[in-house]
Amino acid sequence: MQEIGILGAGLIGASWATFFAAQGLPVRIYDVNDHVKQQALDQSVKNLQRLADLELLTQQAAATAQGNLKSVDSLAELLLDVEYVQESVIEDYEIKADVYREFEQHAPDTAILGSSSSGLLMTRMQSVMQHPGRALIAHPFNPPHLIPLVELVPGDQTAVATLQTVKEFFLKLGKHPVVLNREVPGHIANRLAAAVWRESLALLDAGVASVEDIDAALCQGPGLRWALMGQHLIYELGGGTGGYQKFIDTIGASFEAYWEDMEHWTRIPESAKQKAVSGTQSYLNQKSPGEWAAWRDEKLARIQQILREEK
Ligand SMILES: NC(=O)c1ccc[n+]([C@@H]2O[C@H](COP(=O)([O-])OP(=O)(O)OC[C@H]3O[C@@H](n4cnc5c(N)ncnc54)[C@H](O)[C@@H]3O)[C@@H](O)[C@H]2O)c1
Repeated sequence: MQEIGILGAGLIGASWATFFAAQGLPVRIYDVNDHVKQQALDQSVKNLQRLADLELLTQQAAATAQGNLKSVDSLAELLLDVEYVQESVIEDYEIKADVYREFEQHAPDTAILGSSSSGLLMTRMQSVMQHPGRALIAHPFNPPHLIPLVELVPGDQTAVATLQTVKEFFLKLGKHPVVLNREVPGHIANRLAAAVWRESLALLDAGVASVEDIDAALCQGPGLRWALMGQHLIYELGGGTGGYQKFIDTIGASFEAYWEDMEHWTRIPESAKQKAVSGTQSYLNQKSPGEWAAWRDEKLARIQQILREEK
């Protein structure tokens, strides 16, 4: 797939545009909001220069990639002869349904639609389509131009060939696709994030520690290992010579006791919301949100370099 359309150019759409352009592909960008569209183009150009500064891209590749980006004035122009569309419009079933109906009016029959949706179900979204076999979830992690994960989730009507084509496409572009056998709200990664976030809020609400210490307990400890391996492999190693079975038999019971003590909220209490928002202000005394994002992106790029060297 060569001709890429970015449909919805907010935070995620702009980063996807950077990613595809960096791979040498021609990218067209469309958003209903002209200002957002222009911002996405400007941001992508900046992102590409940043990738070159971080030596993740040569200066020449960055210049070519910048030339590969263009914004278009209508959805019809975006979809003309397009081969793959990355949809990143607002997370709302009604808005996505309208966009999917319009996609079918203008896109060639062979075009594939990947949705960035963080947690909506593809079965429901594709139900408005006449050719639903060509739509699936392709969920990135923010920012997609720096984080390799893409979660591929077929809906009930997604064709097997679509899933296979998109998986091969992303593998070729250097992403790390994971495939869900069935759809669940939040896919895999956001469900894991949701579990950790709930406990981060609960510890704060119960006064166990400050926002900064709860965050530090994550990123100065388990977070460092998580860049390398997931919970299953970590506990295989945690069981020493006895492996995962020994870990479960000896330490598993302690975890069951933690689970009993932990919160099982399905709503965030007001008190936790307030403590989280006010507690997080301390970070903003150190750097502005933009400076934090730039700091994050630079460190993420360096971690990627290390992981690539180790492969
Ligand atoms: N923010 C994240 O961390 C994150 C991470 C992964 C996936 N996602 C998913 O990506 C998608 C977009 O999220 P975002 O954070 O970029 O939101 P955003 O609000 O920054 O961008 C959404 C864009 O969609 C545009 N839009 C709305 N209706 C449109 C239409 N009919 N045609 C074209 N454009 C339209 C809006 O103008 C807006 O610019 C959502 O589905 C979200 O779940 C978000």
